[in-house]
Amino acid sequence: MTPESARTRLSDHDWWRSAVVYQVYPRSFADANGDGIGDVRGIIDRLDYLADLGVDAIWVSPWYPSPLADGGYDVSDYRDIHPDFGTLADADELIAKAHARGLRVMIDLVPNHCSDEHPWFQKALAAGPGSAERELFWFRDGRGDDSAEPPNNWEALFGGPMWERVTDPEGRPEQWYLHMFDVRQPDWNWDNPAVADEFDSVLRFWFDRGVDGFRVDVADSMAKDPSLPDLPVDPTTGFGTSKNKEPGAPLWDVHPQIEQIHRRWRTVADEYADSELGGRVFVSEAYLDPIERLVSYVEPGRLHTTFNFDHLLCEWTPESQRNVIDASRRTHAAVGAPTTWVLSNHDTPRVATRFGKPETGRTFTADGMLPEHLGREWHHYAGMPVDLELGRRRARAAALLELALPGGCYVYQGDELGLDEVEDLPEDALQDPTWERSGRLIRGRDGCRVPMPWEGEQAPFGFGGDAGEPWLPQPERWAGRTAADQAGDPGSHLNLYRRALAERRANPALGDGDLTWDEDTPADVLSFTREPGFRCVVNFGSTPWEIPAGATVLVHSGDATSGVVGSDEAVWLKV
Ligand code: BGC
Repeated sequence: MTPESARTRLSDHDWWRSAVVYQVYPRSFADANGDGIGDVRGIIDRLDYLADLGVDAIWVSPWYPSPLADGGYDVSDYRDIHPDFGTLADADELIAKAHARGLRVMIDLVPNHCSDEHPWFQKALAAGPGSAERELFWFRDGRGDDSAEPPNNWEALFGGPMWERVTDPEGRPEQWYLHMFDVRQPDWNWDNPAVADEFDSVLRFWFDRGVDGFRVDVADSMAKDPSLPDLPVDPTTGFGTSKNKEPGAPLWDVHPQIEQIHRRWRTVADEYADSELGGRVFVSEAYLDPIERLVSYVEPGRLHTTFNFDHLLCEWTPESQRNVIDASRRTHAAVGAPTTWVLSNHDTPRVATRFGKPETGRTFTADGMLPEHLGREWHHYAGMPVDLELGRRRARAAALLELALPGGCYVYQGDELGLDEVEDLPEDALQDPTWERSGRLIRGRDGCRVPMPWEGEQAPFGFGGDAGEPWLPQPERWAGRTAADQAGDPGSHLNLYRRALAERRANPALGDGDLTWDEDTPADVLSFTREPGFRCVVNFGSTPWEIPAGATVLVHSGDATSGVVGSDEAVWLKV
């Protein structure tokens, strides 16, 4: 890309309405210094790979200093880079070099909680009960004799109580603090204006360095009902059902505070709108049901985009897929926002594995997700057998479906290589806090975070070296699946992504806009048209669907010369 064309692409203020954003999980992406841990220099070295892939932007999961109690979502300094990953100067270089290639850079904002090593939390511990420092967090006295019971019955997302008791300097038990996630992730008190001011300043710190946007971690969680009421007890856990996100829940999507926080951030981003880089944006991470609640997050003046997790959760059937796509189009259009499609991320099983399981996701009717699926967690999939060949065939078709839908898309690192979930990591390698907090029952999310295989015949596949083994072991079955192997194979997963992304960029029908369903296909074949002259067809059934005479194959997830769309295949046509 010439400097001129890179500049032209970067000056598009509405880039986020159609961008394809590649998620980099920095610990596992690319390891430049061979210590077995990915780093910012590794990302810089792979910018040409990303530009060749054809994405528009990258989103880097947390790269901040952190004791890594939750993979970096426990931030101890919001204005620096973890020493394992490099320095602030490396981050500046990454942003500049990405921009020089026309690639935008988004980073993670973790506003609900910090690390227990954050200096403000350390000061709060030292300052003691009743201090202004403790008002920045949720410190409370316990209940019962000697405050021995937590202040309420909420259960942490990673298991156990949502409260941890601290001790005073003499080691005597003292107050409790709230942590929605790990015990080492104390929640900020957003009712305190100093917290909101601090986050405005963090946003400006990174916007001033040229960052194009933020992915907002648990964007529905920052506000809490200050009365911290007990919740109805779930008999299976004995805790209050705090994972339940019913409207009116005291810790999720609390009104109107959540909305005010979003609008405040939007005002900060909009201050930068006239800069050379154009619009700075937010994508919200929130699992909310029904979709109307989620879409309220992208009303005018609020956040720009929000991950459409219904589509990520959706099973591989034509009915559920069409229902989710239609609900997404209808609800997003009503507020003038584009839909943001996503097939997987660092918290969910790899798509190639999930689509090879006997259950591929959740059932959606025209009215939304079936109620019995609401409480289902990701570890539901862990014990099921998997047919990876089937999963990969579907993952290829799903990629073409996703990239043809109106709006923007996110691609999780490694999905472009068709990587599978590493479900058999040795127990002593597991790092996700869920493993220990669940009493070693739930393995957690490490299986989708295994370092990328770049090259070579055997592990560590170009990741790590003399200075260290990869921080999570890679399976030997990835031999032949490295980026280098796939680059030279026209039929590879990687080259399917490259072809699709190149076509998406060149084809005016793709990106932002709308679609029209074609009703002339059998029930198990989904087909839609986008103007001008584009058709996407996905075959969920077993009977091959014949490509009509006169249509030209642009991209095919299977054999482009076959004249048909086979079972679990998809095609893009020029019509
Ligand atoms: C992130 C997770 C993280 C959690 C707490 C999420 O939704 O994606 O990886 O554990 O927030 O920060």
